[in-house]
Amino acid sequence: MEDYTNEINRRKTFAIISHPDAGKTTLTEKLLLFGGAINLAGSVKAKKTNRHAVSDWMEIEKKRGISVTSSAMQFDYDGYCINILDTPGHEDFSEDTYRTLMAADSAVMVIDAAKGVEKQTEKLFKVCVMRNIPIFTFINKLDRESKDIFELMDEIETVLGIQTYAMNWPIGSGKNFRGIYDRNTKHITRFYAANNGQKLVASVEADLGDPCLDELIGQQNHEILIDEIALLDGASSEFDMEQILNGKLTPVFFGSALTNFGVETFLKQFLAMSPTPLPRESSEGKIIPTENEFSAFVFKIQANMNKAHRDRIAFMRICSGKYTAGMEVNHVQGNKIIRLSHSQQLMAQERHIIEEAYAGDIIGVFDPGIFSIGDTLCSKDRNFVYEGIPTFAPEHFAKVRQVDTMKRKQFLKGVTQIAQEGAIQIFQSYNTGMEEIIVGVVGTLQFDVLKFRLESEYGAEIRLEPLPYEHIRWIENEDIDIQDLSVSSDTKKIKDLKGNPLLIFVNSWSIQTALDRNKGLRLSEFGK
Ligand code: G4P
Repeated sequence: MEDYTNEINRRKTFAIISHPDAGKTTLTEKLLLFGGAINLAGSVKAKKTNRHAVSDWMEIEKKRGISVTSSAMQFDYDGYCINILDTPGHEDFSEDTYRTLMAADSAVMVIDAAKGVEKQTEKLFKVCVMRNIPIFTFINKLDRESKDIFELMDEIETVLGIQTYAMNWPIGSGKNFRGIYDRNTKHITRFYAANNGQKLVASVEADLGDPCLDELIGQQNHEILIDEIALLDGASSEFDMEQILNGKLTPVFFGSALTNFGVETFLKQFLAMSPTPLPRESSEGKIIPTENEFSAFVFKIQANMNKAHRDRIAFMRICSGKYTAGMEVNHVQGNKIIRLSHSQQLMAQERHIIEEAYAGDIIGVFDPGIFSIGDTLCSKDRNFVYEGIPTFAPEHFAKVRQVDTMKRKQFLKGVTQIAQEGAIQIFQSYNTGMEEIIVGVVGTLQFDVLKFRLESEYGAEIRLEPLPYEHIRWIENEDIDIQDLSVSSDTKKIKDLKGNPLLIFVNSWSIQTALDRNKGLRLSEFGK
């Protein structure tokens, strides 16, 4: 086998997670700019501003083109090959957002300095924690008034339950933002609002207390900084690389993505610390990226991008070895040797055919309907599967009513197929069979997608009645009969397509009630 170690070890594959509006798009653009992908800066933004009416999903797809499904952006910087995975936010938020995190080796968490830890960040964070991947924090918008920085650090620790280590420290914020102090190199980089910080005007290396800093940032700011750093040195966690790599400690950076301040230093330090493609668990034990031939798993399927052609693209993360166009691989779940050709790499608006790719990279492969999420592909002489991708807890539920009951068959076929693609989850009540179908989604846009697709592709018109449930839990105990459980009257007992028993709750109080009333009951947020 050829040695791909150098290629693989220069790869960094990560996702950026944040609550909408924290600055993920802006930061991504700045990172692309450093990578020299300058002409793309506009396209990332274009994708976002092209806000849509959710009623016409196909139109959305057409208008936004491939960018909606763009899964990874690749660029070179400082000898590294960087893959940024796209985690759609806003109304695009869906299970895909979570699944994408399965393909990342680390995550960058962007937090708005004025808002702190917000809901969506918390949700995405949980998925990263489940995978124990390292999380790097970028606290953004320091050019605006921020929360008290110590409070912000404390909030990350208490709300998310992760230790923090400030790599650098902001000097003031908003109108009084003077720059950042690097704790390791003792560099102060001065921020000048006047020219929007576009040019790095001054960077000074000096010990705190050095009079030259009075001049650079002002005497009062200097004094505050001395006090704050002393407090930080005394009170915060130690820097511990092992803890960082286990996802127990997050290095925290400060800056302003919009003015491109603190971004490059963040990128450099992030690249130095973040992991290269990691070994992954499989049915044959750990698969080491550099020691094995090609293998990959499918983490996302984008279906029906063009109705006439029924084209589907399966996105896969290469976990070991090298991909070359036209290679034959074992599609393990399909029990078949297939040829992988015309793989695509997607870059904002454009897609291009690629000839080769390595562990850490994401490729999109034309799917004639043979792939499912979680499928493994490996070299012809191997036969192992990667650990499955969990089913993520939907947060919105609705009862599906069919308008024309004569179309029962099409309707059932449609919902089942769409559920298999993983865009929605369907459940049944006990005793009513397929008469009463409940759909669960992670993001509400999926409801519109379901309705639209059932009508246009299967000719089945539906009405969705929203249900008040917000939490779902799978029952882990195999020896418990769900019918025997004592739950509050607003809790519903349902089963998924595989017949697994579940409970849906209107609030967290009802979850606690179920746990209190049924000793030994074990509930899980992730499905099997
Ligand atoms: P998102 O992808 O996380 O949703 O956030 P996005 O980057 O789109 O940023 C949300 C808004 O915050 C944008 O303003 C953006 O310009 C602004 N922003 C991002 N980073 C910074 C920063 O460091 N400082 C300041 N002051 N603002 C920042 P918008 O007005 O909503 O959009 P636009 O009209 O500027 O495009």
